[in-house]
Amino acid sequence: MSFRSRIASHLSSATRLKARFVADYALPHYLPRIVRHKWKTAIGGKTFPDELFVFVTNRCNARCKHCFYIDELGDTSGEWSLADWERLAATLPELEHLTLTGGEALLSPDINDIAFALCKAAKPKVLTVISNGLRPQAVEDFALRWLELGDKDFGGPRPVLDVLFSLDGFEATHNDTRGVPGAWTNVNDSIKRLARLRDANLGRIDVGVVTVITDSNKHELKELAAYVSQQLQVRQGFEFVRGTNTSVWGLPREMRADFNPSTHSLPPRDELSGIVDLLRELNRQAGSRANFEFFTTNVLTARMLQGDFHGVPPCVSAGRTTGVLYPNGDIACCEFMKPFGNLRDDFAYDFAAAWHSSAADKCRQAARRCRCTHGCYLSRNIALSPSGLMTIVKEL
Ligand SMILES: C[S@@+](CC[C@H](N)C(=O)[O-])C[C@H]1O[C@@H](n2cnc3c(N)ncnc32)[C@H](O)[C@@H]1O
Ligand code: SF4
Ligand code: SF4
Repeated sequence: MSFRSRIASHLSSATRLKARFVADYALPHYLPRIVRHKWKTAIGGKTFPDELFVFVTNRCNARCKHCFYIDELGDTSGEWSLADWERLAATLPELEHLTLTGGEALLSPDINDIAFALCKAAKPKVLTVISNGLRPQAVEDFALRWLELGDKDFGGPRPVLDVLFSLDGFEATHNDTRGVPGAWTNVNDSIKRLARLRDANLGRIDVGVVTVITDSNKHELKELAAYVSQQLQVRQGFEFVRGTNTSVWGLPREMRADFNPSTHSLPPRDELSGIVDLLRELNRQAGSRANFEFFTTNVLTARMLQGDFHGVPPCVSAGRTTGVLYPNGDIACCEFMKPFGNLRDDFAYDFAAAWHSSAADKCRQAARRCRCTHGCYLSRNIALSPSGLMTIVKEL
């Protein structure tokens, strides 16, 4: 038994997890990232995002009760063509991570070509596609075509494809939330097909599940987590349902997007701590696959929803590390902010001109005084701040 294993055998599972986090993640990965980020900020000059969320289309074959994007769905007027995306791609910076979402991105007739054009130009390490999994064959076809591409096609290492499926609960809950009979059967089929491809193409495809916590599924989260890890054998992330009316503090009203779900609500405030305790238990069970940033995001989200902003790191993601593009070419610093311009109409398809514009600067300024529960941004803010790192260790 090695020295490290001997020490580990005397520690509680929580302490072991904390020790592993510090040794395997905090010191080799998080700290250098924080130092790099601080250095980039300190030397000033123009910086680019390392991550973009691209809403490829407003088409969707569901109408979910919790969907923040519901009012946009079906309006495809002005939606960009492949040629528009290709023109923009020529001006994109290199990215670490590109996420395609919507709407249902896989309903875009050009999804493979758009994904390829953006990845070839921006060279992300990971391409994430978020899907409702309602069309298993379409998901599998997308992945199979992606697998045909090699490093040569990208002029460098091909991105890992990470497909995230939304799963809101067991059959009755999921179908009711998605508003589609058979949604549960189809998403299960999609997940299993992609998990098979993952196992046959190790390191090239990953698969996960995202569960949005609402008052309607809170009672089945524990059993759902067991089902996802044991039966589906894919990773799972959780997020509390959000909207601009309930989940943002400090952003001037005129800058807020109106992204609010039509029906679904948060669990009552006095139940949030109990849900976080359950997520902590699940996170500990997941061990090395635990998603440290996302669990801490859940902890801070529940705190903010209870009116406690202690330990919430400043927003360094919106308009700095991260940006958002919409199907008509609108660009925003984050999803909760209104777009600050249109890449075609205001910036002649020049990403740098948009990113370094005074309109973008105004949004970045506003972000300094803002806090929100949006997991994609909050997890970044946590990972890029020393206090966020301390919170991860404390809460594990
Ligand atoms: C907007 S959807 C687009 C991708 C795809 N149509 C889907 O549902 O997976 C992206 C993710 O956001 C989640 N989502 C939608 N509305 C939400 C809300 N109000 N709060 C938190 N997550 C939400 C969805 O469940 C999904 O996992
Ligand atoms: S959450 Fe996804 S599938 Fe559901 S309505 Fe919104 S965009 Fe469509
Ligand atoms: S991402 Fe940042 S700027 Fe945007 S709403 Fe959240 S805290 Fe505010």
